[in-house]
Amino acid sequence: MITVHTVAELREHVRTARQAGKRIGFVPTMGNLHAGHISLIDSANSETDYVVSSVFVNPLQFNDQSDLQRYPRTLPQDQEKLSAADCDLLFAPDVDEMYPNGQAEQSIVHVPVVSKGLCGGSRPGHFDGVSTVVTKLFNQVLPDAAFFGEKDFQQVAVIKKMVNDLCMPIEVVTVPTARAEDGLALSSRNGYLSDEERQLATGLYKTLNEIAEALNHGEQLDKTLAQASLRLEERGFRPDYVEVRAAADLSPAAPGVSEVVILGAAFLGNARLIDNLVVTLNRGIV
Ligand code: PAF
Repeated sequence: MITVHTVAELREHVRTARQAGKRIGFVPTMGNLHAGHISLIDSANSETDYVVSSVFVNPLQFNDQSDLQRYPRTLPQDQEKLSAADCDLLFAPDVDEMYPNGQAEQSIVHVPVVSKGLCGGSRPGHFDGVSTVVTKLFNQVLPDAAFFGEKDFQQVAVIKKMVNDLCMPIEVVTVPTARAEDGLALSSRNGYLSDEERQLATGLYKTLNEIAEALNHGEQLDKTLAQASLRLEERGFRPDYVEVRAAADLSPAAPGVSEVVILGAAFLGNARLIDNLVVTLNRGIV
């Protein structure tokens, strides 16, 4: 695997691969890679001929400076993992390479509607930062297909809408969430958990499954969500949100809707964990 740090070098390598007739796959990341990221590389390898990944901790998508400062930077280990997973090219730019005119002067891509509420509500500006950096990365790499994890369900919805609204000729592929044996969704933020918190962390996914079960038994939505928040607190979390939305477009889950996604975010110690569960309810929302 080759690692490059500049847009010019990146473009040169991708151009050569494209001229050789290769279909380009792209996996953008913020590094500190785990098995979930590697499953994105595996999907990219199975669907494309030349796999590019990026490692860039994007300051524009952090609304909390202390969160940005402590975000783990582990480039040498990431390079080893990507290389072992048969990634062809790694783009690891620094902040000046990505924002040469400074962040304050950067043009912003704003994706309306789907970026509102949920994580967009709790982290103001977060999705503008994501859609802006992903647009830049897409224009730098010019991939045929890009791969994103379903754990960040709202992020995928934002990127799909952006690609569609702005006519970007890129296929967005969603890859199922990678989980530990006990159900915890893999995340770089799991590294912030103490051993004790790690035991409790599976409680978020358990709670989402309990919501699905209650709704399938015909329980009323508001009551079920209120109980779920209490259950999260009992399990040691500080809930941020628990919501049920239409899976297709993240619109509020109206009565009768059956294809839903149950989304939750909650703090456990210093970590803010998110997860979701896509379900087909046997009798729809009551
Ligand atoms: O999901 C992530 O790791 C980031 O939000 C992304 C898509 C790499 C943009 O910085």
